Amino acid sequence: MAKIPAYSNNDLKEGQIERIDLDGHEPIALYKVEGQIYATEDTCSHGAASLAEGDLDGHEIVCPFHDGSFDIRTGQVVLPPCTSPIQTFPVTIENGTILIELPD
Ligand code: FES
Repeated sequence: MAKIPAYSNNDLKEGQIERIDLDGHEPIALYKVEGQIYATEDTCSHGAASLAEGDLDGHEIVCPFHDGSFDIRTGQVVLPPCTSPIQTFPVTIENGTILIELPD
């Protein structure tokens, strides 16, 4: 696991979604819900939509293309037409910086 500095915890507001573009890795979506930070892959498993452009409803991210949704805690599908889960990534905060743990 590599910990990648991604964003300032102070800059990510409650209910905000931020797309993070990383060298050599697919984009990541960062979310803050109830003071907790979550990270998932940004691209919907149903199509080429950026989930960071979707709507957060509690812990559910609703895709902007066809209104399918996922639980950002687990990546599991909540609503179709999505059928495949999205990947989630562990997050830690060190000195106010959000670190995303990516597989090597
Ligand atoms: S592309 Fe996300 S629900 Fe279709």
